[in-house]
Amino acid sequence: MRALAKAQPNIALIKYWGKRDIERNLPAVGSLSITLESLWTTMSVEFLPTLEQDRFSLNGTPCDALLSRVSRCLDRVAGDARDRAAVASECNFPIAAGLASSASAFAALALAASEAAGERLDAPSLARVAGSISGSAARSVFGGFVELSAGADDIEVRSLAAPEAWPLCVVVAVTALEPKPIASGDAMIRGAQSSPFYPRWIAQQTEDLKAARAAVASHDFARLAAVAEHNCLKMHSVMWTSRPPIVYWNSVTLACMQAVRALRANGHSVFFTIDAGPQVKAVCLPEHADTVAAALGDIDGVAQILISGLGPGARLLDGG
Ligand code: PMV
Repeated sequence: MRALAKAQPNIALIKYWGKRDIERNLPAVGSLSITLESLWTTMSVEFLPTLEQDRFSLNGTPCDALLSRVSRCLDRVAGDARDRAAVASECNFPIAAGLASSASAFAALALAASEAAGERLDAPSLARVAGSISGSAARSVFGGFVELSAGADDIEVRSLAAPEAWPLCVVVAVTALEPKPIASGDAMIRGAQSSPFYPRWIAQQTEDLKAARAAVASHDFARLAAVAEHNCLKMHSVMWTSRPPIVYWNSVTLACMQAVRALRANGHSVFFTIDAGPQVKAVCLPEHADTVAAALGDIDGVAQILISGLGPGARLLDGG
């Protein structure tokens, strides 16, 4: 049976950085994110007894770079004695450039694979499967505002609020399109081993999560802005102080950050966050999205502007 699923990337406002268990890909800290609406990935999965190896294509072209992670995800859902599978993905945004493409990819894949295998896993189980391949993918199983709690032995993911409960907007300024210089997983391990800031980063995460959770519950934009920017800059401080250092930003990244701060000083409700890449995500109230998009789009070196509201979690589509 063939199954088709769709999921959107999510943007962490309180970041996941660091692994408690590398083998099982368990995060060292909890995180809090928003799931986007207009950026998406679909995954179609068909298990076929006639296939000798898994096959994976991305936007119509065979893609071996991701194949081993795709196979691992299928094994987690259907066991390694499963039939091999033909997997085809479509994605409407640049991959591997710090735009959370692995989050939407593995959330959609876990769901499509579980349907195709006749397993019908529930959302918490899908989140565990997706998260075992890409930590952030666990959060894309859910929509709107999502919190991932990092237990000693497992993760727990839950929805804090539906997308329509507080319809924030995200303006993404794409400042470079090439793949990132080091994968986030390797960068996290390096940070844990070598950054003097890493223990402080871990120690303060509970406090940041609490502040962000309260800000979401009370729709307190200023409070969310303050804790999200602080948390993002702390994560990047761990990266910068890793040995060798990891700097994902370029000069356009910094120009965008300054533009966001200038907009905020002028009364616009907007803050930035940046992941393992040079792209700047400006989170704002919907009434400020056009102004934010125009200001970031005017910056020399911004290659593309993407705008999205908040959207639902991973779901099955007809036509698998
Ligand atoms: O899911 P991964 O392994 O690609 O790691 C994601 C890490 C960040 O995007 C930088 C932060 C986050 O919480 O999404």
